Amino acid sequence: MAGGNWTLGIESTAHTFSFGLVNSSGIPFPSMSDTVKPLEGGIHPREAADHHRDLSAVLFHKILKSQNLNPKDIGAVAYSQGPGLGPCLRIGASVARTISSMLDVPLIGVNHCVAHIEIGRQQCDCEDPVLLYVSGGNTQVIAKLQGKYRVLGETLDIGIGNMLDKFARQQGIPFPGGPVIEKHALEFIQNNPNATLEGLELPYPVRGMDLAFSGILTAAQRLIEKGHSLGSVCWSLQEHAFAACVEVAERALAHSGKTELLLGGGVACNNRIREMCNLMAKDRESTSHAPPRMYCIDNGTMIARLGYIELNNGRKTSLGSSGINQYLRTDDTLVTWQ
Ligand code: ATP
Ligand code: FE2
Repeated sequence: MAGGNWTLGIESTAHTFSFGLVNSSGIPFPSMSDTVKPLEGGIHPREAADHHRDLSAVLFHKILKSQNLNPKDIGAVAYSQGPGLGPCLRIGASVARTISSMLDVPLIGVNHCVAHIEIGRQQCDCEDPVLLYVSGGNTQVIAKLQGKYRVLGETLDIGIGNMLDKFARQQGIPFPGGPVIEKHALEFIQNNPNATLEGLELPYPVRGMDLAFSGILTAAQRLIEKGHSLGSVCWSLQEHAFAACVEVAERALAHSGKTELLLGGGVACNNRIREMCNLMAKDRESTSHAPPRMYCIDNGTMIARLGYIELNNGRKTSLGSSGINQYLRTDDTLVTWQ
């Protein structure tokens, strides 16, 4: 077996193709990424996959250059095995197989959702958190119980980020809409510090420990059609959607007896959800943590980090079992490393 001692991570579950690195001690280094931004409409899986294929060589060279490495410094290759869009996952897996075979180094397919958790734990120095995982495709409240990260509550329809992106698209705001909604909401509340939700009410998305966001999306669009300003509706949308996530996270803390809350996923970039989590945690004499934004959004570094952890725990992926799994679940992965 050849190879150096860096682990390369390849992320390709959806719109973002990203390469990241951890060193021989598992310390993360920033990713090199590129995201498909369709001019109109949502993400087309095949077009996103073509984008990833076209950029693979460029991003591989960029990530090596970022740490002055050459291919021989790579000692293992990790990739997202699922969940995600089939065509996109297949490109990441093929690129990973190619690099690992060429360099004759181990290959490790990892669970994308678990990678979000593990990079967060490393960055925020969390021991045993409840994770509020809020991304485009996923909205889950997760805690480790009996050797697996268990999903205690999740969206029953669309992910919170997809909901924000869809609402934004209806207003002519291109993908990703979440950051633009955040900006409009902030401007609104700064200009109207005494604003209340009266007249801007939306259906509350909590269903027991689960969530559902399609109703809130339709109702927010209706508020726009009734003539409410974009800023006020963005603000109301965030207040309702985030409060719902925080409520489920709080119940998960109460049920599990844990005292750390960790945020992950692209929507965790949002300052308002971070603030709400801090307030809730403080009330419960717990702590709330959010990784740097570059490690909240999809990134190759989190894949490298989980690959590093799993390889050190004796797991690797043979070529025969390196196929992707679009429907891989957070609790399909046995957590053997803690
Ligand atoms: P997953 O595969 O884990 O579901 P993903 O493919 O949705 O991830 P991420 O990069 O984790 O990708 O998240 C992207 C989402 O995050 C988009 O929906 C985007 O609008 C949202 N987002 C990014 N920044 C912000 C922000 N500041 N406020 C709200 N949403 C945000
Ligand atoms: Fe993600």
